[in-house]
Amino acid sequence: MVKDRMILDQFSRQLQDLRISVTDRCNFRCSYCMPKEIFGRDYNFMPKEQLLSFEEIERLAYLFVKMGVKKIRITGGEPLLRTNVVDLIRRLHAIDGLKDIGLTTNGVHLNKFAEPLLKAGLRRVNVSLDALDEELFKSINDSGVPPSFIIKGMKKAKDLGMEVKVNMVVRKGMNDQEILPMAKYFKELGITLRFIEFMDVGSTNGWNYEQVVTKKEIHQLLSRHFELEPVDPSYVGEVAKRYRYKGTETEVGYITSVSESFCSSCTRARIAADGKFYTCLFANTGFDLRELVRSDLTDIQLEEKVRAIWTGRDDRYSDIRTEETAKNRKRIEMSYIGG
Ligand code: GTP
Ligand code: 5AD
Ligand code: SF4
Ligand code: SF4
Repeated sequence: MVKDRMILDQFSRQLQDLRISVTDRCNFRCSYCMPKEIFGRDYNFMPKEQLLSFEEIERLAYLFVKMGVKKIRITGGEPLLRTNVVDLIRRLHAIDGLKDIGLTTNGVHLNKFAEPLLKAGLRRVNVSLDALDEELFKSINDSGVPPSFIIKGMKKAKDLGMEVKVNMVVRKGMNDQEILPMAKYFKELGITLRFIEFMDVGSTNGWNYEQVVTKKEIHQLLSRHFELEPVDPSYVGEVAKRYRYKGTETEVGYITSVSESFCSSCTRARIAADGKFYTCLFANTGFDLRELVRSDLTDIQLEEKVRAIWTGRDDRYSDIRTEETAKNRKRIEMSYIGG
């Protein structure tokens, strides 16, 4: 059993969750994340040798768990595009002390991968789906994939016994008319749907406040159609604010980075596919762990480096966001850091 040694940042936030992006590529070109005009054919994706290998990820994951991480989430780009990602899940599943492994996917390959992923130890999957309307969804993902295809993958994962949650990014003028149909549909299926406020990540999606549909607005709309009761967070720092449809076990959630920021309890670290370590989703510089992993540093020396970074952490971007900060910063892209 690896020894748990808690570390705290400048605001006494413990290092508890690790999000690892395994590729910056994606088979979608969502208009709010990788617009085709910018991420078309010639975009400079990372060459293979720049990606952390599974051995390197496994070593880092082991060290992070030793430092107190309980939960690891695999992200992308689209993580199911990374060759042999099932093998990575198997390796992570074998780490003593790691309580929870999740994966966030656009669902295109879920039907194919659900079973091997489950066998490798994955129990939870979050699937992005922004609309049920076929033409609208195709226009958002800009890749011709209909919602039925994603839903098939979700159902497969659910039928196998995985916990499935749906992520819907809500952007005014893009898909706000889909809020109610999505809520009704996933309530019937007994699948948790989370509405995500459109965030100012990256610098290619043309974000502004006017395009954000807040939790308050969505909750008011839902409350006209359903009876909802709040659900207590299951741990400190949980990202979504959860509600339950009264008389059922089915939940709905809101991720309120814009209207009700949650930085004060943020326990998340991120490693990008090239091994850069970020202490905030909105950070603009990362610390190069790949270089350290490929050097002759011992585990203890590596751990000391990470410990020093986390101890100095004072990020609280969403708490201090203004129209100006959102405009002026040079930001890393969502597809690179994995959300
Ligand atoms: P669960 O473990 O199932 O609760 O997953 P999660 O919600 O933490 O992860 P997921 O990848 O499904 O992310 C859902 C949304 O929350 C995405 O839009 C993420 O970018 C956003 N999100 C997750 N963590 C943070 C965070 O620390 N800060 C901000 N601002 N957004 C976050
Ligand atoms: N704002 C909010 N959520 C976003 N995602 C991608 N871009 C944004 C954005 N600008 C979501 C994806 C996925 C999750 C990892 O982040 O749809 O569900
Ligand atoms: Fe869409 Fe996710 Fe791919 Fe971005 S990474 S283009 S949000 S599927
Ligand atoms: Fe954490 Fe940064 Fe998100 Fe705040 S904005 S919750 S500090 S990742």
